[in-house]
Amino acid sequence: MDNVIIRKATVDDCFAIAEIIKYSLGYDNSPALIKSNLETILKNDADIVFIAEYSGQPVGVVHAENYNSLYAPPQKELMSLAVKEDYQNMGIGTELVKQVENWAMETGRCGIRVLSQQRLEKAHKFYEHLGYEYVKIQLNFEKYF
Ligand SMILES: CC(C)(COP(=O)(O)OP(=O)(O)OC[C@H]1O[C@@H](n2cnc3c(N)ncnc32)[C@H](O)[C@@H]1OP(=O)(O)O)[C@@H](O)C(=O)NCCC(=O)NCCS
Repeated sequence: MDNVIIRKATVDDCFAIAEIIKYSLGYDNSPALIKSNLETILKNDADIVFIAEYSGQPVGVVHAENYNSLYAPPQKELMSLAVKEDYQNMGIGTELVKQVENWAMETGRCGIRVLSQQRLEKAHKFYEHLGYEYVKIQLNFEKYF
């Protein structure tokens, strides 16, 4: 991990994030949309976005935010996590999650939750390896305006 640094994201990372997410998760979103979302996210102290750089090139990203519920203790929620395919299995994903966990502890949250698509089986093993407990399968519903 000598060549890897983890740093906070800036809006200029929108192009790199678009590429990482496109090839690792299959979401083909425009850098313009990601830039606009980053502008909102980075203003919010409850959110964090870390970038992993390998030899100066962005190769991984994680985004987490507050998970506040009426009936659960205050947690952070991992909203996005992706590492470029050529840089997977090197410990970068683990490092990104650890940074989020440290930040969650420092900010008084008592845990992290993650929703992960059923098809992402490698990610499920990854989370279990990091001590995350499988809880349940859920259905997602959306309505756009
Ligand atoms: C899930 C994902 C983020 C993990 O990132 P990663 O950088 O590959 O993760 P790590 O390298 O830290 O760990 C992956 C595995 O490699 C192993 N590993 C870690 N460092 C290693 C090293 N130096 N050498 C060999 N193996 C290593 C870990 O033990 C881990 O094993 P596990 O799967 O049994 O837990 C990445 O695979 C990814 O982007 N997947 C596609 C997108 C995705 O599924 N995102 C999650 C959405 S919920």
